[in-house]
Amino acid sequence: MQILQIISSAQGTKSHSTQLSQGIIDKLKSAHSGSTVVVRDLAKDPLPYMEEAHLQAYFTPAEGRSPEQQQAVRHSDEAIAQIMAADTLVIGVPFYNFSIPASLKSWLDHLTRAGITFRYTPNGPEGLITGKKVYVAVASGGIYSEGPMQPYDFATPYLRWMLGFLGLTDVTVARAEGVKLPEFQATAVQKGIDSVAV
Ligand SMILES: Cc1cc2nc3c(=O)[nH]c(=O)nc-3n(C[C@H](O)[C@H](O)[C@H](O)COP(=O)(O)O)c2cc1C
Repeated sequence: MQILQIISSAQGTKSHSTQLSQGIIDKLKSAHSGSTVVVRDLAKDPLPYMEEAHLQAYFTPAEGRSPEQQQAVRHSDEAIAQIMAADTLVIGVPFYNFSIPASLKSWLDHLTRAGITFRYTPNGPEGLITGKKVYVAVASGGIYSEGPMQPYDFATPYLRWMLGFLGLTDVTVARAEGVKLPEFQATAVQKGIDSVAV
């Protein structure tokens, strides 16, 4: 099994979402011996925000692209190749301002390309990244899986929708939640790891 780990926390080894991701990966490796892990750290190696050059390049057929446009699609092509090569994705998500980090949004923006990762059909859009399992490892200061703040989780509904749009419909969300709340913080990561059956 090839696992692609996406890191989007800038907190290095202190990151709860990365620790949760690591716990899930350890479980996957125990269940599937010989698994390999490719790490894409979006905090250290971010994709650029979408600029005019990217959009022009994406909408120009490959054979007609200028050298600048060929350069502009490079990040996107690499990110798509990484995801296509993986069997399983483990996406670490620090909960920032009720949603996902900009680096993760940028990764998704560059992954979403008509004719490559999704296409329009007479029956509507169809995702083309299929046959992969996704674990989303979310870390949040507060509690969003239940209770009064649940409606303000704009991270996991968005990710489920967006990943599904690309064809990634088999998504398990694990949470290290309440990391800023004294009564939850000591057990938050382990609880998230324990919630995942691989
Ligand atoms: C910029 C920023 C925004 C945050 N926004 C929220 C938030 O809206 N709700 C929340 O519960 N926690 C919020 N937090 C707390 C983080 O979700 C928490 O520290 C989490 O562990 C971050 O993930 P990481 O440990 O993987 O970096 C925020 C933290 C930062 C740095």
